[in-house]
Amino acid sequence: MTLLDRDVIAVSDLSDDEIQALLRLAREFAGPEGRPTPRNELADRIVACLFFEPSTRTRLSFESAAHRLGARVIGFSSPAATSFAKGETLSDTIRTVSHYADLIVLRHPKDGSARLAAELSEVPVVNAGDGSHSHPTQSLVDFFTIGDERGTTTNNNVVLLGDLRFGRTTHSLATLLSRFGNKVTCVSPPGLEMPEGVIEECARHGRRPDQTNDLVGALADADVLYVTRIQKERFADPAEYLKYAGSYRIDDDILRHAEADLTILHPLPRVGEIDHAVDRRPGAAWFRQARNGVPVRMALLTSILKETPQILTEATR
Ligand code: NCD
Repeated sequence: MTLLDRDVIAVSDLSDDEIQALLRLAREFAGPEGRPTPRNELADRIVACLFFEPSTRTRLSFESAAHRLGARVIGFSSPAATSFAKGETLSDTIRTVSHYADLIVLRHPKDGSARLAAELSEVPVVNAGDGSHSHPTQSLVDFFTIGDERGTTTNNNVVLLGDLRFGRTTHSLATLLSRFGNKVTCVSPPGLEMPEGVIEECARHGRRPDQTNDLVGALADADVLYVTRIQKERFADPAEYLKYAGSYRIDDDILRHAEADLTILHPLPRVGEIDHAVDRRPGAAWFRQARNGVPVRMALLTSILKETPQILTEATR
């Protein structure tokens, strides 16, 4: 069982044991303060971050993770300054960059683009979000954070709220949660439900998620509320987006229906779905979740690029 030289395109590319090993390694990197110290495991490596879509946390935490491991980073944060602007295809870009780096981190607006890139690349590809399909590294961060905040990654009652149709983070997270014996309840505006394919995948590997419009009812026995924004950029017609904008908002009023220790997560950016007054609740964990992006991605990068991560102690191996 090794992640050496492997692509990570979906959470289904990782076995349960591999996921647990990654989380343990991330825990070691995070240290007691959640702030990884600089290391040099990847001092001889180059990581390419190719972002064809906007990103703050994913790109910067990947870059920070690579730097904290001593790797060098090349890439771009927007395709506008690359040959994409001249009409170059993703395939040709990947074929080229795979000669310039030891690993490619790719974010791209098309579903399936990361799998295509992995087929063409000479070096491992990590999916940092492909259209509305999947975002496996965010889900590992979310899963790690649930373990941190709740003390366990199993038997949690997790409510996923928002645009579950286009929200790629919820697709990979739902399957991960189901695989590890958590109860998932999907709450979305009508028309933005979780795709049937994701529900089926969850059911195949664990418990079938519940689907409801009743947020208040779902909150009553929730351990974790995972909020997402409406994915504006995925709507072909802006009028269609406007139908959903502002259709749900988490505030102290609605949270009276939840346990006081409810953990609230959001992959961010938030654009109005969470009232800023909610930040004061002890369970408001989205910035800790964003912080966890670095150690989790350090664990992933080092596992793909190094035979046996030096940091692994006997206890965690
Ligand atoms: C998410 C994404 O890009 O899918 N953000 C992230 O990676 N942290 C969520 C979103 O954009 O809504």
